[in-house]
Amino acid sequence: MEKLVIEGGAPIDGEVVISGAKNAVLPLLAATLLADGDMTIKNVPQLRDVNTTIRLLEGMGVTVSVDDEYNITTNTSTINSYVAPYDLVKTMRASILVLGPTLARYGEVEVSLPGGCAIGSRPVNIHLSGLEAMGADITVHEGFIRAKAKRLKGARIVMDKVTVTGTENLLMAAVLAEGTTILENAAREPEVVDLADCLNKMGASIIGAGTPTLVVQGVESLKGVEHSVVPDRIETGTFLAAAAITGGRVKTLKAAPDTLDAVLQKFRDAGAAVETGEDWIEVDMRGRTLKSVDITTDPHPGFPTDMQAQFMAMNTFAQGIGVVVETIFENRMMHVAELMRMGANIRLEGNTAIVAGMPELYGAPVMATDLRASASLILAGLAAKGTTIVDRIYHTDRGYEKIEIRLKKLGAQIERVSG
Ligand code: EPU
Repeated sequence: MEKLVIEGGAPIDGEVVISGAKNAVLPLLAATLLADGDMTIKNVPQLRDVNTTIRLLEGMGVTVSVDDEYNITTNTSTINSYVAPYDLVKTMRASILVLGPTLARYGEVEVSLPGGCAIGSRPVNIHLSGLEAMGADITVHEGFIRAKAKRLKGARIVMDKVTVTGTENLLMAAVLAEGTTILENAAREPEVVDLADCLNKMGASIIGAGTPTLVVQGVESLKGVEHSVVPDRIETGTFLAAAAITGGRVKTLKAAPDTLDAVLQKFRDAGAAVETGEDWIEVDMRGRTLKSVDITTDPHPGFPTDMQAQFMAMNTFAQGIGVVVETIFENRMMHVAELMRMGANIRLEGNTAIVAGMPELYGAPVMATDLRASASLILAGLAAKGTTIVDRIYHTDRGYEKIEIRLKKLGAQIERVSG
């Protein structure tokens, strides 16, 4: 198994170009199932989850081609199966995103029911009840969700929790439904807005993206278009955290500052100088003291759960005491025990972590338990004294493109090793 070996203490300083967002490209690739003709997705990050999605689409018979610049072109005229099998869904829960578009366009779909994952039980009841409200006939049997509908019908759906992929699934179903669908308490994440923008380009009629109410007027068909994925706000925040935690400086290019308001405010509260331009963000911590910050995760535009672990790592080195509360997932604190192996002083009470900053942490062998936990351990390793070995980095490769190469360019001493 591959690992990252990090020698802590190297100064981090430089520029990094941000990739397209993992959590935008996955729904966009699912949306290609709705397109008549060729559809091309650009600014695609090279990630394990993207490869899994390509395998999923190819398994359904979709023709997928990838060019030298990693632009992905799909054509659904060859589709011959409406199944998302267990072996793919179990490695990537986002496979559930084919449910809405496949049902809406082809009238039937079977998706292996995603189980829980390391960060929580993550049910999909809201996806299913929303589709049922639109007239789908759904059964869950032998580990599979089976859904049928001649043509979905518009409905008013109030989601009782804010769900990102739930909103995306229902949106991709509603665009081809008969009549008007109103999605209330919709997720406002920039990735949902990107999906809505792309669907509108394809000929859909969606109003309200980025607000809690989406109004969708169903259309008969959608055409293939070209669409470029929004920058990854979580990757951006993670690289900026590398500057903050090491007392260095990082400028992220091709970024989207307006998707990161809550996070940038926390960097300022932590003592960093933060500057932004139209498509860049710089965090400068040189000569400054890192201060603890209190964090409570919330749906967008609140502080993202996907940045919680990285700020926890920052707090372990910061001056003072920071309280970190996770409200989205019930089990997203597993990095705490690993950070403590490096000398962090953290008291965990349920989903609240009380972090007392330490002047130093020490490198240690640690284990990644999920994607963002792996980012937090890498960050801690960059700032710790001595050698940190991060194991199970297949989690990292799901969401960060060539992380060690890009960190190295910023000055980090980091190597990928096998075995
Ligand atoms: N929930 C339900 N029922 C549902 C759906 C969700 O109870 O039918 C609950 C979940 O259990 C959770 C909360 O609602 O407690 C929010 O979950 P959400 O559905 O928003 O999460 P998701 O759509 O499965 C996406 C991202 C995650 C990110 C969350 C929250 C993708 C592919 N994944 O997951 O990304 O943490 O939204 O912002 O978009 C990551 O990138 O590391 C990652 C985990």
